[in-house]
Amino acid sequence: MKIVVTGVKGQLGYDVVRVLKSRNYTNIIGIDIDDLDITDSNAVREFMSLCKPNVIIHCAAYTAVDQAQDSKEVCMNVNVNGTRNLVNAAENHDAKIVYVSTDYVFDGKKSGSYDVTDLPNPISVYGESKFLGELETQEYQKHFIVRISWAFGKNGSNFVKTMLKLGREKEFINVVSDQIGSPTYTYDLSHLLVDMIETEKYGTYHASNEGMCTWFDFAKEIFNIARIDIDVNPILTEQYITKAKRPMNSLMNKNKLDELGFSRLPNWKDALVRYLKEIEVL
Ligand SMILES: NC(=O)c1ccc[n+]([C@@H]2O[C@H](COP(=O)([O-])OP(=O)(O)OC[C@H]3O[C@@H](n4cnc5c(N)ncnc54)[C@H](OP(=O)(O)O)[C@@H]3O)[C@@H](O)[C@H]2O)c1
Repeated sequence: MKIVVTGVKGQLGYDVVRVLKSRNYTNIIGIDIDDLDITDSNAVREFMSLCKPNVIIHCAAYTAVDQAQDSKEVCMNVNVNGTRNLVNAAENHDAKIVYVSTDYVFDGKKSGSYDVTDLPNPISVYGESKFLGELETQEYQKHFIVRISWAFGKNGSNFVKTMLKLGREKEFINVVSDQIGSPTYTYDLSHLLVDMIETEKYGTYHASNEGMCTWFDFAKEIFNIARIDIDVNPILTEQYITKAKRPMNSLMNKNKLDELGFSRLPNWKDALVRYLKEIEVL
């Protein structure tokens, strides 16, 4: 099986390649923007004609959520047009495609967790672009759309690394305590994505580590496990001004994983300990 992975210089793409190798896949072509700009439709077509993939795991994206508010065109180009180019390539080669999406497709106003069948209603440019990317992906039958939330992985910047840095520099920090969600360790998610491509159980899924927390809880747990002594002060979203709005509720129902026979990801606290070991904090 020949597998093309996009976004391998980012958090998820890096782990997907690592996990594929650990599971004895040998025909892996990992690419990032220096190898192929996914917004260039001719380049994508030519590249894929040479590779002839059986699977495309699409992890590349424009992920600068706040910056996207001022750079809508660039964000849409990567997340919508780039995705369309890869979906077209998958179709041309009869390949399976995995599109990684986000909790940001929802407005966060629901009480309780979001079902895969709930209607998206993004409240940011990035969320809108990822939803439009989902619609592009749905145009081709052999797709897996996997919505994740609050990602952290070795290869890239994320909330955990930010907290560790602030923990070394400051005596106290303010962290938002009224947004709820579930963190996703990209290494754990990668195993699920590989499980998926080994099947033909196409469709839309929600996946994150088990359990739920607020950003405040998440920060407290990071400092607790890393044994960093810092005062963490809970604040409200309205006290922490960002360009892009975030959903207040990012909880996603993962029952579909059970129904289709996929293993859920471990609890986020367990994932966090393994992650801190991986990045040599523990
Ligand atoms: N991070 C999160 O918290 C989170 C949450 C929910 C969903 N997701 C989704 O999960 C997926 C993986 O996220 P991640 O955190 O691994 O992202 P990431 O670390 O930002 O990696 C994305 C990679 O895509 C590359 N890229 C950007 N534009 C490109 C282009 N035109 N052509 C080719 N490559 C391009 C980026 O390169 P540059 O760095 O040079 O731009 C980067 O290496 C994305 O689909 C994202 O939307 C992420």
